[in-house]
Amino acid sequence: MISQVVIIDDEKELTDMYVRYLGHIGVNDISAINDSREFFKTADRLNPAIILLDMNMPYHNGEEVLDFIMQRIPDASVVMMIEKNETEPTIRCLQKGAVSFIVKPVDKDALANVILRALEANSRFGGKTIRTAAEHNEQHPFFNDIITENPKMAEIFRYLNFISESSFPVLITGETGTGKELFAEAVHKASGRRGPYVAVNISGLDDNMFTDTLFGHVKGAFTGADKARKGLVSEADNGTLFLDEIGDLHESAQIKLLRLLQEKVYMPLGSDRNMRANVRIIAATSVNLKNNVKTGKFRKDLLFRISTHCITIPPLRERKDDIEILALNFYNKALLESGCQMSATLPHGIGDILKSYSFPGNVRQLQAIMNDLALITRGRQLSSRDMISFLRRHDISVRSGSKEHQPEAFYYAGEFPTIKNMETLLVSSAINHSKGNITDAARILGITRQTLHRLIKNLDKPHA
Ligand SMILES: Nc1ncnc2c1ncn2[C@@H]1O[C@H](COP(=O)(O)OP(=O)(O)OP(=O)(O)O)[C@@H](O)[C@H]1O
Ligand SMILES: [Mg+2]
Repeated sequence: MISQVVIIDDEKELTDMYVRYLGHIGVNDISAINDSREFFKTADRLNPAIILLDMNMPYHNGEEVLDFIMQRIPDASVVMMIEKNETEPTIRCLQKGAVSFIVKPVDKDALANVILRALEANSRFGGKTIRTAAEHNEQHPFFNDIITENPKMAEIFRYLNFISESSFPVLITGETGTGKELFAEAVHKASGRRGPYVAVNISGLDDNMFTDTLFGHVKGAFTGADKARKGLVSEADNGTLFLDEIGDLHESAQIKLLRLLQEKVYMPLGSDRNMRANVRIIAATSVNLKNNVKTGKFRKDLLFRISTHCITIPPLRERKDDIEILALNFYNKALLESGCQMSATLPHGIGDILKSYSFPGNVRQLQAIMNDLALITRGRQLSSRDMISFLRRHDISVRSGSKEHQPEAFYYAGEFPTIKNMETLLVSSAINHSKGNITDAARILGITRQTLHRLIKNLDKPHA
């Protein structure tokens, strides 16, 4: 029998607890040994990939056991469990070949982390040592389709560079339209996996449909199944399977996915034979899965598993510095597609208005707005009438947020706005607020209709 993980610690309560902790993250193939002498007898038979080894034990201490492991099972990855202040023996053990250490009392998350990393780095599980962040200072070209100048996004790229080649799952969270799918594809490209990228939205799939879609079926599995069919897991062999809307995964389907992730096996509908899978899973959701775990809708062990690596893409309103560059990009793309000349700038006044908007639909919404804008302007400046109808169509109103009742404070993004910018912003939002009614707009601005007409005319003129 080969055990993936062997835990050697003289205290049985502790080994029981570690087995439980690791079970939560889907590592179940574990042997616990409470007498160091016993390990010497069983080591060859167990042949573990990972050994969690207590430093202080009767009969043979951790360092002696490590010496033995390095001779007999040199490709096993050893993680030492040490007491605080045990610096010298720990350094010696690391020099002798232990891959890492963890301080007792062992924290659940720290244990999960150290074991998953050791499994990932172990040569028997793909052999990829985790690359250091320093080796990845540059942005991967595979992320070039993702337009951004925001530092939080740059941080995400750095993290993805770091984990893209791992075979463990990635969970991508973020509000609708933030670019989760775009990121999933980029992670696949950066992973260097030979197989294809296959995407599936699993919301609305019941257990049977999920099994059929992912795992396929054998001939005669159900009425009408006159031919066997391969599922998407097989299609994505050696590649990546992207599971969108993972929060909607049916309860019994969650167990099947967990099994696929843990044991790398699955069963097509109507079959009793396990099939092997070599597929990297990337999952995305816009719901808070931790809340779903609390309400019993989502399995905790599955959440642990799918979020070995995870990123959260910030909503567009939290990265205002991306709005103009994205807007100009989408605008030009739409102009080109409709046969117009590209433009070096956005129509006058629009940038500021966009920055003050909260974008509940995030980048997708900005993209739709810019497509519409490109069609009505065809690259020309916007007339005030066009501006009004454009804003009204997109229901764009300026965000006042919690600062509403503090007249001395106002919200702005990016560069400090000029008086002219603010005038454009105020006039446009007043018109928008009053649904295009000039009399109402003038009233809320505290000016006459004539003055407002004059200001609207000025909107069309370029900046002084
Ligand atoms: N940073 C970005 N640069 C360029 N295009 C982007 C960026 N972010 C998102 N997009 C574009 O916005 C649209 C929405 O992105 P995507 O489909 O990836 O969002 P999502 O988070 O998966 O949304 P949902 O939760 O609704 O499925 C796509 O057309 C995508 O190409
Ligand atoms: Mg999506």
